[in-house]
Amino acid sequence: MIPPAVRRCLGLALAAVCAVVLRAADAEGPVPFDLDLHMRGARVYERQCAPCHGRNGRGDGDWASDVAVKPRNFARGLFKFRSTPPGKLPTAADLRRTVRTGMSGTMMPAFTKLTDGEVDAVLAYVRSFSKRWADPAAYAAPVPLPAAPPAWFGAGPLQDAAARRGAALFAVHCATCHGPAGRGDGPAAAGLRDAWDRPIAPANLAAAHFKSGDAPTDLFRTVAVGLDGTPMAGFLPALGTEALWDLLAFIRTLAPVSPGR
Ligand code: HEC
Ligand code: HEC
Repeated sequence: MIPPAVRRCLGLALAAVCAVVLRAADAEGPVPFDLDLHMRGARVYERQCAPCHGRNGRGDGDWASDVAVKPRNFARGLFKFRSTPPGKLPTAADLRRTVRTGMSGTMMPAFTKLTDGEVDAVLAYVRSFSKRWADPAAYAAPVPLPAAPPAWFGAGPLQDAAARRGAALFAVHCATCHGPAGRGDGPAAAGLRDAWDRPIAPANLAAAHFKSGDAPTDLFRTVAVGLDGTPMAGFLPALGTEALWDLLAFIRTLAPVSPGR
């Protein structure tokens, strides 16, 4: 017996679409307070996170004063790196990914030595800094995202054709901020501010590394759902999956190919 979702996929006969349909997941929601978890999380937080994020999670730790990209103030419950729709809280998996991989080009380190239990405990503690985590309306199911790039992605005539279409889309939708060659120097770049009222620069898309990971699927996620608290919007609803891969095919031509890309 073939489940309906799979039958729908087979009907569409598109591997990429199948991956999307099959990975759809439910929304998470508020978690009951767990004192033991909270205390364990507090101990990890004090040592590993408070020097930057501050004892009360306001982004004002001792190491935060002189840096251009400030550590996150957790009070508003606003997160850049999510797989959820704009304006919604990240999933537990999104937060784990942030802590494990860090953010290239900022002070946020990759915590590779913490145990899974320590990561989950410290994230429970981070959630306690904002009331948003108690609001069921702040949660939403993750946007279904592709598990892998299309087979043509990366090299060959189909990649080249996609990159040409992507270049045209980029000129219309992205170049005002990211600049014609993706260097982060578009006409609108200078005046941009983030939700914490700090100046913010569009990413240099010709750089070797990106804040939330260098895999094509990491960039797809960013361009699909955007980065909350920044001027970087999510483009999946307006452009659709195929146009997003065309854009990423173009972005791939901007930088020398690094191991992750
Ligand atoms: C050396 C400084 C530093 C330390 C230590 C640090 N962070 Fe960060 N963190 C940052 C900076 C800087 C940012 C903001 C990056 C940005 O906005 O681009 C950040 C952002 C974040 C975010 C927000 C991600 C998003 O989607 O917006 C989370 C969550 C986070 N850190 C968790 C942690 C946790 C948990 C720890 C401790 C285990 C920790 N950080 C330790 C500097 C640090
Ligand atoms: C209104 C200005 C604006 C527009 C338009 C815009 N971006 Fe961005 N984008 C930004 C800013 C600002 C950042 C940096 C956010 C940060 O560093 O926290 C960014 C970051 C990114 C990143 C890097 C994410 C990472 O992990 O480091 C990618 C990829 C990206 N944009 C792609 C695009 C694409 C593709 C388009 C067009 C479909 C686009 N952007 C349109 C402002 C914009």
